[in-house]
Amino acid sequence: MKKSTKIVHAGRDKKIFKNTANPPVIHASTIIADTYEEYVNIEKRTSPLMKYGRVGTTTTFAFEEAIKYLEDGDKTIIFPSGLSAISTAILSVVEKKSHILVSDSVYYPTRRFCDYFLKKMGVEVQYFNPIIGAEIQNLFKENTTGIFLESPGSLTFEMQDVPLICSIAKKNNIKTILDNTWATPLYFKPLKYGVDLSVHSATKYIAGHSDAMLGVVTSNEQSSQSLEKTSFELGIHTGPDDIYLGLRGLRTLKVRMNQHQRSGLIVAKWLEAEPQVSKVLHPALPNSPGHKIWKRDFSGASGLFGFIIKPEKNFNIEKMINSLNLFSLGASWGGFESLCVPTWPYQYRTINSVKHDGYFFRLSIGLEDPEDLINDLKKGFQYL
Ligand SMILES: Cc1ncc(COP(=O)(O)O)c(C=O)c1O
Repeated sequence: MKKSTKIVHAGRDKKIFKNTANPPVIHASTIIADTYEEYVNIEKRTSPLMKYGRVGTTTTFAFEEAIKYLEDGDKTIIFPSGLSAISTAILSVVEKKSHILVSDSVYYPTRRFCDYFLKKMGVEVQYFNPIIGAEIQNLFKENTTGIFLESPGSLTFEMQDVPLICSIAKKNNIKTILDNTWATPLYFKPLKYGVDLSVHSATKYIAGHSDAMLGVVTSNEQSSQSLEKTSFELGIHTGPDDIYLGLRGLRTLKVRMNQHQRSGLIVAKWLEAEPQVSKVLHPALPNSPGHKIWKRDFSGASGLFGFIIKPEKNFNIEKMINSLNLFSLGASWGGFESLCVPTWPYQYRTINSVKHDGYFFRLSIGLEDPEDLINDLKKGFQYL
């Protein structure tokens, strides 16, 4: 089946959801068993297995099924946010005194979790240059149990050689986790490229309408047991209303992504030609350093990318941002509306993988007409 067909039908089990096209929202803490025998033999309850609200209802299972199917995984677990999906995936691959390798380009709160929580647990955290490639092997220690990747990286959009890193990790019995939020399950298939745990902030493109918080983790067979146990013991539960919004968003993901990709590239190419812009950070642009990897492994690009304005003293960045009408100033992305935010990636990096060589910005290109978006940016660029 083609991706656009899969996305319409995934998770819609006709045996369970007989009369509704959309799986209904089931709110429940208590789940009632029909008989004494069914109550004591909980494992024998009819499928899907509803035990207790915290471990999910049919709404949860429908979303899990849909994402698992799209990611070609063994198991998917839903989380109340992308960050809780990330932290649980990481906890599922570390033990006391483990050593974990984390890309220097990760989403800042991922880094904060590692620096605060993992270090408190006695886990050694080491950051590496996102474009390290095969040299990652030189960083392995006896106690290395996990590698955390994000490709392209947050704010600076470096591409990582995911299949290469994963194949080396596998030979050394090290688990790999990838934050795949940028590409969505449509444009990159992490498990097919050797990743053990694929993570998404479904708050972004999957929900797609800037009104829900959700995360998902999909595991391969070797990683499911630890993932399930970790999330179960942490008491992870996601409210059915947000899950419903995730499922609803998923149905239109393909058409939205086509548009985000198309408009994003139109705006990125326009920016490339602007004299005040020193760099456009978008892996689908042929001049981008990560372009070869993107072209080899990905089947598309989302609408999120960065650009750098030359560091001229008289540029009025504040006026530029405040003069934009269509681009809003908000710290998220992947919704139907366009966003433009200033960023400071060099402040967070610890191994000097980014130079502070201008004013950094991130654009999330929404579903507006790209010509209108360029005109809005032109207005702002008068102040540069
Ligand atoms: C790359 C990336 N991963 C994960 C997250 C966290 O997602 P959430 O906000 O749903 O916790 C974000 C949020 O901005 C992100 O940009």
